Amino acid sequence: MSVITLMQIISILFVFHSSKGLVSRYTDVQEVPLVGGSPAENFARFRKRFRFFYSDFAQETNFTVYKVQLDKEKVVLADPVAMSWLWNNQRLISKAEPGPFKLNSLRFVPTSLASNGEMHERLRRNYQKIYRHAYEKYGLEWAFNDLKQKFDASFPVKGVKVPVERILDDIAISSFAHFMLGKDWTEFKVYDQYAKVLSLYNPPTDQDDAIINKMFEEMSDTPLIKDELNSVFGPGKCKKEATSEALFSVMCVGVPGLRKAMNSIVPLLVKLKPKDRNHIIEEANTFFDATNSKSFDEKLKNAKTIEKFVLEMLRYVGGALGYVTYEANQDFIINSYNGYYSIYKGQTLILHHFAAQRNPDTFRFPGEFTLTGNKEYLKENFFAFTGPYNMKATYSNRKCPGQDVAMNLVKMYVIHLARCDIDPDSDLSFNQLNGYRTESTDVPLTVKSFVCKK
Ligand code: HEM
Repeated sequence: MSVITLMQIISILFVFHSSKGLVSRYTDVQEVPLVGGSPAENFARFRKRFRFFYSDFAQETNFTVYKVQLDKEKVVLADPVAMSWLWNNQRLISKAEPGPFKLNSLRFVPTSLASNGEMHERLRRNYQKIYRHAYEKYGLEWAFNDLKQKFDASFPVKGVKVPVERILDDIAISSFAHFMLGKDWTEFKVYDQYAKVLSLYNPPTDQDDAIINKMFEEMSDTPLIKDELNSVFGPGKCKKEATSEALFSVMCVGVPGLRKAMNSIVPLLVKLKPKDRNHIIEEANTFFDATNSKSFDEKLKNAKTIEKFVLEMLRYVGGALGYVTYEANQDFIINSYNGYYSIYKGQTLILHHFAAQRNPDTFRFPGEFTLTGNKEYLKENFFAFTGPYNMKATYSNRKCPGQDVAMNLVKMYVIHLARCDIDPDSDLSFNQLNGYRTESTDVPLTVKSFVCKK
């Protein structure tokens, strides 16, 4: 390392103070005053609104790196500079908990979310094999046409207060399962019950166990596992292991983000400025234009307004998870917008991407959905897939390995939905009250009519 570089590093960490010589510029993370008056009250509030608790906190207190006492002490990072720095130094952290859910069913499964080191790497290699297989066997155009069939079969609907979230959910899960596993979701008989068991806080009962076992059976009965196991994973792979990897990497982590994205698109698209909406419709129409000779994949790459819409939506409503929980592996100093902080080995870190993506120091109008921002800047300050958008998913890092698949599928949802005339009769405003699933609306989405072009 050259002397200049070393000096630069030293000057970052220290300033020269005339009376005291070299003085550290970094401080301990400050604890914010307890909102509820006690950790128990804070925790109760957190349990009630866990998704938004931390971002509410950041907004209420103006802190973006702070400590809070909940069930235990947690250091919250709601700061894009700190988040980028930490994701680029992932060796400093390891997974602490599998997130807000206990992921009951996953006790049968070695899941990447709850593993570190070699096991984590091995699982990620296998997930990537499943995704690659879908691209090679079916391809994006197949997935697009499959989605179209599902839209055609589900719409039109007309009436008074027709609930459509469930219909949209079904399309998202169904097409994704078909693309990844070769089996349509309608053939999975217990997915719904399984999803409930997955998110229970309490240990599963015998009845829950029966659902979990049934879900494993259904997963092992997919073409991916039944017929293609050897060609995907290589001979010698244990069927039970492959089944659990498919179950986790497709049904447990892929589905929640996709169904939420599908549902969030509708109110945002309906409320879009006519100029932006027209750009999206124009791009969407190229996919149905028989005279356009570009390949499907090329058209998808060129759909720039649609890409921006998807990115801004995932910034604004967040992904399926608002934050992820890690533990510091060692003592280190973290960079942030407001200075440098000491982090100590063993501290629990909440990497709050939802709050970071709404940081007012980063975005001029953090609480508004807008297509006017700079896409590259957005990508730099975007963490919905964990890690900055442009950070590549590798076998050893924690970046969502499904980002590419997810972006392609969600763009397809926008293309199909842009060609629908939707007349909602529910409130489309977004003030975070319905924080669990359809985060772009406060109340379940209902319509007077939902009619799509064939
Ligand atoms: C809009 C859709 C999606 C969003 C916003 C999203 C976001 C995320 C986030 C935030 C994590 C980190 C979770 C944690 O560390 O606790 C994650 C992990 C993961 N995602 Fe996605 N995801 C999406 C779709 C998908 C899809 C479609 C797939 C599969 C094709 C997928 C596969 C995975 C896997 C396997 C992990 C675990 C990675 C690991 O433990 O190292 N995701 N995703």
